[in-house]
This record gives sequence, structure tokens and C-alpha cells, in this order.
Amino acid sequence: MKLLVIGSGGREHALAWRLARSPRVHKVYVAPGNGGTQRAEQMENIPLTNAEELADFVQREGIALTVVGPEAPLAAGVVDVFRARGLKIFGPTKAAAQLESSKDYAKAFMVRHNIPTARYETFTDPAKAHAYIDQEGAPIVIKADGLAAGKGVVVAATLEEAHAAVDAMLGDGSMGDAGARVVIEECLVGEEASFIVMCDGRNVLALATSQDHKRLQDGDRGPNTGGMGAYSPAPIVTPELHHRIMREIILPTVQGMTRDGIPYTGFLYAGLMIAPGDDPDREIKTLEFNCRMGDPETQPIMMRVKSDLLDALEHAVDGTLDQADIVWDRRTALGAVLAAHNYPNTPRTGDVIRGLPADAEDCMVFHAATKLDGDETKTTGGRVLCVTALGDSVKMARDRVYEAIDGIHFDGRQYRTDIGWRALKPSQQKPKSNA
Ligand code: AMP
Ligand code: GLY
Repeated sequence: MKLLVIGSGGREHALAWRLARSPRVHKVYVAPGNGGTQRAEQMENIPLTNAEELADFVQREGIALTVVGPEAPLAAGVVDVFRARGLKIFGPTKAAAQLESSKDYAKAFMVRHNIPTARYETFTDPAKAHAYIDQEGAPIVIKADGLAAGKGVVVAATLEEAHAAVDAMLGDGSMGDAGARVVIEECLVGEEASFIVMCDGRNVLALATSQDHKRLQDGDRGPNTGGMGAYSPAPIVTPELHHRIMREIILPTVQGMTRDGIPYTGFLYAGLMIAPGDDPDREIKTLEFNCRMGDPETQPIMMRVKSDLLDALEHAVDGTLDQADIVWDRRTALGAVLAAHNYPNTPRTGDVIRGLPADAEDCMVFHAATKLDGDETKTTGGRVLCVTALGDSVKMARDRVYEAIDGIHFDGRQYRTDIGWRALKPSQQKPKSNA
């Protein structure tokens, strides 16, 4: 069987890698893919991004099923184009993808369906936005309404920062259409977790839990990024909290979409804020929905899949997810991102990557912004690689990752040395390597 994965990041490399290991799959096309998917056995990069051209390719090649990685093609309606031609694809329609592509839509949806989230108001008029900030005080969170590649959220510690964020989004149009409306919301405190499920419009299958590290630097300092590392499982999501998240957030979301006439199919990612403490009734609120898997959360999650992921995907596109199951490796998987010089602002490209290790059962280097150039592998953007390993404990997975990172070099590489710190005992929080 032949499959197609749409996208070019580490998430897509990890999805394609896991699917290529299905005994029923002999080839996974990746569009457009990266240097890692180009080099991998059983994968082939296809230089296409246009939905109609992708659908033509799928029909011509007789591809059985397509999985979409990133939000942009989903928000542009690739699922609608494929379905109109009767092609099997796993992802939300353009209408359902609004859960991610419009913060205002997602917030109004959550209020309408009683899904716990931070208190908020939406503004298009800068004067009213400024007045609301003065009334609410700091800290406060300002979000551009549209897709902004992880750059649309400002957690403002002071009123000055909050006002400046409104000016940047609504005032000078620097974010284009994405910033033409802003959501201003209450600042929540606690610990974040990523909760990702598969939906077939009716049934839900939860994936393993995970947590990512959004800030650039150790100790969760520095600017927000798309994610500098992740691990699975997330120990904070105890079985009790898991149950509550399904009951209070995930199931009402899927049922709410159906009630609104927009059944949700695809991966659904709820970014959660879990209030501090250990009270089993403490608040769990939804920070955001994504209409796709997380990057880099997917990399550790895929390393823990022990059963055939294709089985679950087939059930998902056939509307029989209630009959599907995924067997998870009990070990912890952890991934650390190697980013380019000057990420996240204006990452440098063209640096040569050396020392990439061979694939191993317990350690994979998933590529993101890379390309092959003759015999060399070069950087092409911000998040370059995600080194991901399995271990019997968080510490063992972490040590295996940093051991592998010690051997990989490119000029200007940046990475965090403390991925997984929240899941480690304080005495284990610094890696042994000199990284
Ligand atoms: P979002 O894209 O909405 O998930 O926001 C990106 C990041 O901003 C989140 O992962 C949080 O770290 C932070 N954030 C978003 N909303 C809030 C909030 N209401 N309170 C505190 N932090 C937030
Ligand atoms: N790692 C966060 C995201 O994929 O949105």
C-alpha cells in the first residue's frame, strides 16, 4: 500500500517513519518533505503543495490514504478538495480547522459549549482594546486572531507590554489579516500539557500524553518558539486528570462540533493549563486548540507507538475509531530540537550538518528544516532536527538524547539542555553531558 504525508517538518518525518514500518505499507510519499524523508528508505519526496495537484498525484499513483501534518493546508481546505474527489484523507475540513485558524471562533465555541477556558474579549478597535487592558490590568494575554506560526501570542507581564502588543497587532498591521482582530484574555497559571486525540466525527481515540517546551532557552526563558523539545508521557496527566480532560474538554468539543453542524475529523490537539497543586478537582482550562498533531510532540509520541498506526488511521477515515486501539511502549520518549543560528527571528540557512547517527530502534533523528545537497545535509530554516530517544525513565531517555546530540554539529546550532525537567527529580535536572 502507498500513503501520502503532507508537510515538511519533524512531525511529518516522524509520522512517515512510523507509517513506513507498517507491514502493509511499501511506500510513503512526503510532500514536500525534507532531507531526512528524502534519505529514508521507503519514502519519497514529492515537490507539490497545491491541493488540486496533490489530489491529481494521489489519483495517478493509486495512493490509499493521505495524512496532513501542518495547519496551513488544512485551513486552506485540502481535506475538502480530497473528499470532493472521493479520496481518503485524515484531517479536519476547512470549516472544522477554524478551531485553530481563528482564536475568536475557538473561544466563542468554547463558551457556547461550556468548555473551560480563560475569560476573554475580542477586539478590532484599538481604543477599545487599550481600554479593556487598563480595566483588567496585567499580567494579561494578547492573541492575534489568525494563524501566526507561533508568533501571535504575547503573554504580557506589564501594561506597557500589553499595550505595545495591541499596537503591533491592530495598530500597524504588522501581522496582516492574522492580526486584524485580537483576543485579549485572562492570564492563567499552572503547568501546560498537550492532549492529542484522533477523531472520526463521532468517536475519539486518545494518543499518549505529552508536554513540550515552548521557550527558546533553558529554564523556560527567552522568546516563545514552535517548541524546543517534548516528551511523552506527561506525568502531570494522571489517570484521574486524563478522565476529566476527556469528559470536560475533549468529548464536549467533539460533540459541540457535531451539534454546530461541523463534525470534527482528524487529529485534535488541546493545549491545556492545569492549575498548580495536587487537588484532583483543580482547574483544567483549554489554552488553545490545534487541528493537527503537535511539533515536536509528535516525534516522541510516534516513537512510543508499538502497534500498526495504519490500522488506527484506517478506522479513523472509515468512521470506526471505536474499534481501534494503539498499543504504547511503556518507556518514556524524549526529543530535543536543534535549531539554527538566530532562530526564532531570522534563522540562518545553509549550514552543513555533520555527524548524523544511523537510525536506531531507540534513537532517531527526525529532520525538519534540512535538505540534501550532493553528499551534504544542510539547514534550510529554524527548527532543523529533533533528536528523539526512548528510555526506561525520563532521565535515561534524556541522557540518550544528549549523548546523540554531542556527536551532531552545525554552525550556530542552539538547543535546550533541560528538556524534560518538569518530569525529573531536582537532582536529575541537569544533563551529564557538557551540552
Ligand atoms: P496558544 O497559541 O494560544 O497556545 O499560546 C501559546 C502559548 O502562550 C501557550 O502555550 C502558553 O504558554 C501561552 N498562553 C496562551 N494563553 C495563555 C493564557 N491565557 N495564560 C497564560 N499563558 C498563555
Ligand atoms: N508544539 C506546539 C504546537 O505544535 O503547536
